[in-house]
Amino acid sequence: MRAEDVPAADLVAFEALWGMVPRPGETLEARARRGQSRIAHLRATDPGGAWVAEADGRVVGAALALVREGLWGLSLFVVEPAWQGEGIGRDLLDAALGYADGARGALILSSTDPKAMRRYARAGFALRPAVAAAGIVERSALPARHPRVRAATGGDLELTEDVSRAVRGATHAPDIPNLLAHGYELLVLDDRGFVVHRDGAPGLLAARDEETAQALLWAALGASPPGASVQVDFISAGQDWAVAVVLEARLALSPDGPIFVRGDVGPLRPYLPSGPYL
Ligand SMILES: CC(C)(COP(=O)(O)OP(=O)(O)OC[C@H]1O[C@@H](n2cnc3c(N)ncnc32)[C@H](O)[C@@H]1OP(=O)(O)O)[C@@H](O)C(=O)NCCC(=O)NCCS
Repeated sequence: MRAEDVPAADLVAFEALWGMVPRPGETLEARARRGQSRIAHLRATDPGGAWVAEADGRVVGAALALVREGLWGLSLFVVEPAWQGEGIGRDLLDAALGYADGARGALILSSTDPKAMRRYARAGFALRPAVAAAGIVERSALPARHPRVRAATGGDLELTEDVSRAVRGATHAPDIPNLLAHGYELLVLDDRGFVVHRDGAPGLLAARDEETAQALLWAALGASPPGASVQVDFISAGQDWAVAVVLEARLALSPDGPIFVRGDVGPLRPYLPSGPYL
């Protein structure tokens, strides 16, 4: 992927993943800035994992993979709808997986697209089921915020590093600033755990223990604007600490795309992974 491919790759992703429908309240310009900035960030940190597919002289597919401290993760995998099912995805995934050579483990957060799940399983990944939760937080269920949860800044990034290493064997610190630049807030509980949330929806949470994870998830949910819907994605099998909180908050569970893993990925709990940065 070259720098000049970034806007086209972002448009393919917007169409393939979101059907060109922006988030409520987000303008098309703001969405494009956010989408392009995520792609440009990863192209800069991981040029060997950034690929596009061209047909008829234009970009019709893209894959982005990152490697952090020996962990490979797939951040983006999309083919324009009109070109799907013709083997372009296979070539893109093979290219992105070439960047995994030497990595100790590999992680993918799958969509529910049968084509995506087929590709990942056939690439030797093992499937772990996941659910998502969504709805309006029941304010009367909110516990008082844990007294040691506090808002943090880019300057507190080192507090997150060992927690990330405990759950997935790799830091998130190079990527969190990109979330903070696009409307996300970082909350920490001492050096026990952290959550990055946007209007209450956790975009990444990791903790040393389930009690800390629950306090952080409650703090995020408590920051949702009254009456607004929040979404909690990729609650994978074994993360019943999160299921307990979202049900207490009266959110509804539904099936989500599974998580696919290969090699040594760490315990992956207590953990709500980041879509773009895992
Ligand atoms: C996932 C995606 C990137 C794959 O790219 P692609 O070019 O469509 O993939 P390929 O054609 O290489 O492979 C698709 C596989 O699914 C099979 N397939 C095609 N249509 C299918 C269907 N309706 N149901 C199940 N399998 C199907 C194909 O036969 C092929 O398998 P095979 O190579 O073993 O025969 C693309 O389909 C896409 O953009 N989907 C929407 C966005 C998305 O969900 N991305 C994944 C994010 S995690």
